Order: sequence, then C-alpha cells, then structure tokens
Amino acid sequence: MQIILLGMPGAGKGTQAAQVRDEFGIPHISTGDMFRAAIAAETPLGLEVKEYLDSGKLVPDELTIRVVNERLSQDDANKGFLLDGFPRTLAQAQALDESLAKMGRTLDTALYIHVPQEVLLARLTGRRICKSCGTTYHLVFQPPVEAGVCDKCAGELYQRSDDTEEAVKTRLEQYSQTAPLVDYYRNQGVLQQVDGQQPIDKVYSQVRSILLKLQV
Ligand code: AP5
Repeated sequence: MQIILLGMPGAGKGTQAAQVRDEFGIPHISTGDMFRAAIAAETPLGLEVKEYLDSGKLVPDELTIRVVNERLSQDDANKGFLLDGFPRTLAQAQALDESLAKMGRTLDTALYIHVPQEVLLARLTGRRICKSCGTTYHLVFQPPVEAGVCDKCAGELYQRSDDTEEAVKTRLEQYSQTAPLVDYYRNQGVLQQVDGQQPIDKVYSQVRSILLKLQV
C-alpha cells in the first residue's frame, strides 16, 4: 500500500498513522518526526531545519524532497508506506509522482482528514507526546491515566516547541500551500475524505475501511 495522509496541522494525521502502521504493518514516514529527530540529535540536517520548525514555517522543498527520497529508498519502504506530512506543496507532490514513477509504483490513496480550522488550536495546544516512545496524547481528548506519564512505557510527556499559539498560527497560515493538494489528488482520482471531527476511534474505523477495500 502506498498512502499519503493530508490534513491541516492537528487534523489527526499522526494519531491515525500510528494505528495504520500497527495494524497494516507498513512504515509510518513522517517528515515532521524525521526533522524533530534530526534536531534532537543535532545533525547538520537538524541544524538546518530547526528555525523553520520552531517558527512553524515550511522547510524548503528541495531539502524536504531529498530527505523523503532517501527514506523511500530504504528496504522497509519496499512493502509500502504511509507518508504523513509529505507532500505539503505542489512541487513536493510532483516530485513524489516522479519518484514513484521511477520506482514503477503508484499512489493507492490520498487520505484527507478534514477538520474545521476552529477546533485545531485547542487540539494542538493540548497535545502532549511521550519522550521515549512518541505516543501522542491530548490533555482533554485523549488524556494519559497519570498526568505527564505515558500509559505505554511510563516515559515523560512533553509539549512540542511549535505547539505554542504563535507557532500554530503560522502553521495554519502555511497550510495555504498545502490546500491545493486536495484538488491535485482529487483530479488524479485517488482522494478519499475522512471526517476528522469524530472521536479518534470513529475516524480510525473510517480510515480502516478505506484501506481494507484497497487490499481486495
Ligand atoms: P508535522 O510534524 O508534520 O506537523 P503538522 O502537519 O503541523 O501536523 P501535526 O503533527 O501537528 O498534527 P497531526 O495532524 O499529526 O495531529 P495529531 O495526530 O498529532 O510538521 C511539523 C513541521 O515540520 C512543519 O511546521 C514544518 O516546519 C516541517 N515540515 C514537516 N513536513 C514538511 C514538509 N513536507 N515540507 C516542509 N516542511 C515540513 O493530533 C493533534 C492532537 O489532537 C493530539 O493531541 C491528538 O491526541 C488530538 N486528536 C487527534 N485526533 C483527534 C480527534 N479525532 N478528536 C480529538 N482529538 C484528536
């Protein structure tokens, strides 16, 4: 399965991707996660992208495309992938089409998780993430059993540096570069829209039933 996840910041892409990865056994490739890991490890890539992530601006296309192409060339992506947060611009979408064509592969579906903008600020400012295993929580919508502690591995929960009100505002503005991709994939006949305003398990049932149909 070759799948991409589209949606505004906080739409629930990462939350759904983790469940798809666990159930369908395909790698979850998140450009945001890759950039954050590079920043934490203080690699040359991390130093280059830190300013963009902290402010909520998009990392330049050329750099992002190179990082994704390298990741897609790894062995585990042979059996399929779930791209989360990429592509995010028309140039990235066209580059992905070219890379897939070179590999003799095609995109199965672009899952668009649709959520009205007014609910996103609360989702993002309330998000907490486990430092050890990366599991995502929400202070109100998906709280851990014990405050500040991961249910799965007892790791410490933290707040992303771009989940401040100011950075979220910039990220939502930057989404204007991603919005045209909905029509881009609709025109390719691969767009599937999911109602992301439902509870997390209901959203997943919808995602799951779309993916099960792809396997038939
Ligand atoms: P990235 O990490 O991709 O961030 P994003 O797109 O802004 O998406 P988020 O991770 O914030 O949201 P999500 O949709 O995954 O929501 P989640 O499931 O966590 O990118 C970060 C930065 O990296 C960018 O700003 C940019 O600088 C750079 N970057 C990355 N990719 C790039 C690219 N291709 N090009 C250029 N730059 C790039 O859910 C959010 C919260 O809501 C959680 O707390 C969750 O528990 C809760 N929640 C989820 N679903 C529901 C639900 N149904 N109901 C209630 N609460 C819910």
